Amino acid sequence: MAGWGGFFISLLNYKTEKYVIAENRKIGILFRLYQLAVLGYLIGWVFVVKKGYQEREEAIQTSVITKLKGVTLTNTSETGPYLWSAEDYVIPPNGEQVFFIVTNYIETPNQRLGLCAESFKVPNGRCQSDDDCVEGESVTAGHGIKTGLCLNSTGTCEIHAWCPVEYSRRPTEPRLSEAENFTIYIKNFIRFPKFEFSKSNVLETSDESYLKRCSYDKENHPYCPIFRLADLVSSTGNDFQDMAVKGGSVGILIEWNCNLDKDASQCNPQYSFTRLDRNFNNSITSGYNFRYARYYRDENGETYRTLYKVYGIRFDIMINGQGAFACDMILLYMMNTSSFYRDKKFEIINFKYDPLFGAFE
Ligand SMILES: *[C@@H]1O[C@H](CO)[C@@H](O)[C@H](O)[C@H]1NC(C)=O
Ligand SMILES: *[C@@H]1O[C@H](CO)[C@@H](O)[C@H](O)[C@H]1NC(C)=O
Ligand SMILES: *[C@@H]1O[C@H](CO)[C@@H](O)[C@H](O)[C@H]1NC(C)=O
Ligand SMILES: *[C@@H]1O[C@H](CO)[C@@H](O)[C@H](O)[C@H]1NC(C)=O
Ligand SMILES: *[C@@H]1O[C@H](CO)[C@@H](O)[C@H](O)[C@H]1NC(C)=O
Repeated sequence: MAGWGGFFISLLNYKTEKYVIAENRKIGILFRLYQLAVLGYLIGWVFVVKKGYQEREEAIQTSVITKLKGVTLTNTSETGPYLWSAEDYVIPPNGEQVFFIVTNYIETPNQRLGLCAESFKVPNGRCQSDDDCVEGESVTAGHGIKTGLCLNSTGTCEIHAWCPVEYSRRPTEPRLSEAENFTIYIKNFIRFPKFEFSKSNVLETSDESYLKRCSYDKENHPYCPIFRLADLVSSTGNDFQDMAVKGGSVGILIEWNCNLDKDASQCNPQYSFTRLDRNFNNSITSGYNFRYARYYRDENGETYRTLYKVYGIRFDIMINGQGAFACDMILLYMMNTSSFYRDKKFEIINFKYDPLFGAFE
C-alpha cells in the first residue's frame, strides 16, 4: 500500500529548473574557459578544418571500364614469330576493373594426351624402381597419372598426361618487353546518390584529339585518363623491365574528394599507384603467374594444345571518394550543439508548505 501511496504523491510533485548563480571568480572563469573551448572547437575544428557545415557522402557509386592498346611481336625458337595484341595479352579481355597483362611466358606447344615421363622438378614423380610408381596414382603436384613404370632415362615415373610436360626454364628477360609502351585507358564513372551528382574521369574538353594523344603525367596532364605502363609502374618506385620478368601486382587508386559547393569542373580525380605484392625481394613468394591452354584440332580431328605459363602484372583499380555539400548550417549544427548548453539540472525540493493546497504535513 505504501508503494501506491508514494506513487500518487509523486504524481502531484511539480518539477522546475533552478539556476544557481555562484558568485565565485574561480568557477566563473572556469565556466567561461569551458564556453571558449566549446566555441573554439566549433569554429576551429568543426567549421574550418572539418568543413562541418557541409553534408558529406562517402558512399560513392562507381563503374570502371578499361581498354588496352599496343601490339608486340615475339619470336621464339620453339614456335617462331607470334603477334601479341590486346586480345592475347589482356586476361580477361572484357575491360574489367581487375585485369592481368602478360609480360613474359613459357610455352609448351603441341601437347597431346598420351604417355610420357614426369618432369624431374616434381619430387613425387622421381623413382628408383617401378615400385615407386604405383599404377593409377596421381603425381602429387605433378602433371598426370602414374602408369606403374619407372623410366631409366629420366629417373621419373611414366605418366598418362598432356605430353610432353612443361620443361622450359623461365626466361631471364621478359619476352614482351615492349609492353612498357602499351597504354591503359581507364574510364571511371562516379555518382554521389545523395546529391544526384555524376561525373567521369575523362576530361571534358572541346579538343577532340586530346584523348588520342595525351598521356597521363602528374604535372602536365593530371586529368588525362590514358596511362603508359612503364610510367605507371615507375611511379610505384619499380622498374617495368624488372617487374615484367616474374610479374607482380599494382594498385591504381583513384580518389575523388569533391567539394560540390564549387563548380563540377573542380571535382577531379587524383591518381596514385602502389605495388601491392610487397614481398618482391623474396624469390619464392614474389611475382605473379598462372597457366592456361589453347586447344586445336589436327586434320584427323585429334585435339592438341599449347600450354602457356604466363607471367605478368595484375592491376587492381580501387576507387575512393567523398562528396561534401553545404546545407543549412544553422539547422544542422546549431541544433546539435545547442545540446551543449541544454545541460539542465533537476533538483527535487520537498516543500514543507504545499502552495496549491495550502496544507501542512
Ligand atoms: C625469327 O627468328 C628467326 C631466327 O631465330 C629469324 O630467322 C626470323 O626472320 C625471325 N622472324 C621475324 C619475323 O623476325
Ligand atoms: C634400367 O635400369 C636397370 C637397372 O639399373 C637395368 O637393369 C635396365 O636394363 C634398365 N632399362 C633400360 C631400358 O635401360
Ligand atoms: C617504347 O617507345 C619508345 C619511344 O617510342 C622507344 O624509344 C622504346 O624503345 C620503346 N620501348 C621498347 C621496349 O621497345
Ligand atoms: C630488394 O633488393 C634490392 C637489391 O636487389 C635492394 O636494393 C632493395 O633495398 C631490397 N628491398 C627490400 C624491401 O628489401
Ligand atoms: C548533427 O545531426 C545530424 C543529424 O541530425 C547528424 O548527421 C550529424 O552527425 C550531427 N553532427 C554532430 C557534430 O553531432
